[in-house]
Amino acid sequence: MEEKKSNQQMLAAEEEAFSSAARIKYYDIVIDKGRGAIITDVEGHDYIDLLASASSTNTGHAHPKVVKAIADQAARLIQYTPAYFANSQAARLAPRLAALAPISGPVEVAWGNSGSDANDAIIKFARAATGRQYIVSFTGAYHGSTYGSMTISSVTLNMSRKMGPLLPGVVKVPFPSPWDKLAGESDDQFVDRMYKAFLQPFETYLPAEEVAAIVIEPIQGDGGIIKVPQAYMERIYAFAKQNGILFAIDEVNQGMGRTGKWWSIQHFPGIEPDLMSVGKSLASGMPLSAVVGRKGIMEALGPAANVYTTAGNPVTAAAANATLDVIEEEHLVERSAKLGQKAKDFFDQEQAKYDFVGDARLYGLNGGISIVDPATGKGDVEATTKLMYRIFELGAIIISLRGNILRFQPPLVITEEQLDKAFAIIDQAFAELAAGKLSLPSNAEELGWE
Ligand SMILES: Cc1ncc(COP(=O)(O)O)c(C=O)c1O
Repeated sequence: MEEKKSNQQMLAAEEEAFSSAARIKYYDIVIDKGRGAIITDVEGHDYIDLLASASSTNTGHAHPKVVKAIADQAARLIQYTPAYFANSQAARLAPRLAALAPISGPVEVAWGNSGSDANDAIIKFARAATGRQYIVSFTGAYHGSTYGSMTISSVTLNMSRKMGPLLPGVVKVPFPSPWDKLAGESDDQFVDRMYKAFLQPFETYLPAEEVAAIVIEPIQGDGGIIKVPQAYMERIYAFAKQNGILFAIDEVNQGMGRTGKWWSIQHFPGIEPDLMSVGKSLASGMPLSAVVGRKGIMEALGPAANVYTTAGNPVTAAAANATLDVIEEEHLVERSAKLGQKAKDFFDQEQAKYDFVGDARLYGLNGGISIVDPATGKGDVEATTKLMYRIFELGAIIISLRGNILRFQPPLVITEEQLDKAFAIIDQAFAELAAGKLSLPSNAEELGWE
């Protein structure tokens, strides 16, 4: 029998052969198993998972229905490339996903292996359907790690540093983040100013008639769980419609029930995308993504323009069919909304209690909690690191965004008891920070996004 190794031993062995580009460091654990909202490391420590594998396991870890679907399908057929022949699972999934899309009229899908390639596909289909080259995206966005998707992202310098030239024809405009609001500025004035900044490229060097698509996360995920103001969304949407620009949304992080609705765009009455990307929780974390769009757009490219050998693989498609069943049968979208309200109430109470809780933005079981220096109101990275590390020590996994935002995204199946336990842990860590009892871990410099 193989000797049991500790977290540290396994990490040391891995480090020898593992690129530093492939992990954002947080805690020195090696995850061994998971069930529902609990994950267990190789030493047998349990943690309440408040990250849901970066929102890719909305149905929880090892959901029995998803496990069975994967096992049954693996025993029948693991792979036959959908690039050449259909398989029964993906053939069933395509119309299901098309029907779920928040797009009226005929809708088609094309499979990918990751959220990143689904966003590349948005660029490809949008350019093909419009015959235009430019793509407009937003600061603070995370769309993925392939050349196309990283070009339209802008969340950390490490995603473009040393790798240029990036994809040509991409223009970034400022995302309307609440912390960019000026002192004394009203919501309307803020939207006016941000919309002016959005228009600036179009008025100076970017001909609107050469823009294929605007790509946006309706609720920015890695940017800090920030919802676009409705009035701003309506303006850029109207601008897109007036100028024949496709309106494309990224639902990779915020889709699949995460926000208390199937899709985050459903928080914006009157806005309907032309194209969207889906991934992560689509197949409960198995590698399956999709670009979903209006039929006319999805027919703008011919065979081989968007095929991958394993995209729409039978096992991942079986996992996705089971995932949709679970979300429907267990009412996980409604559950996210209901428990999200409970979480909102909890974090609002914490905000009233602790002056370093700057803002708690929750949309379903999905939150960004800004930790600030009470004296200046500015983000406090050190305090955030102390907090997340203490929360980890107390038995829950939470990470940060932008250095000073706690990312709260548990699996949607988390029980109320587990949620209450997580709240007790978070409250304890907050109380200890307020009492000056927390210190930084020795490797604090290495942790989190740069
Ligand atoms: C909004 C969004 N889009 C795209 C991606 C990229 O997905 P993947 O890592 O599966 O390529 C992510 C991943 O975090 C994301 O949050």
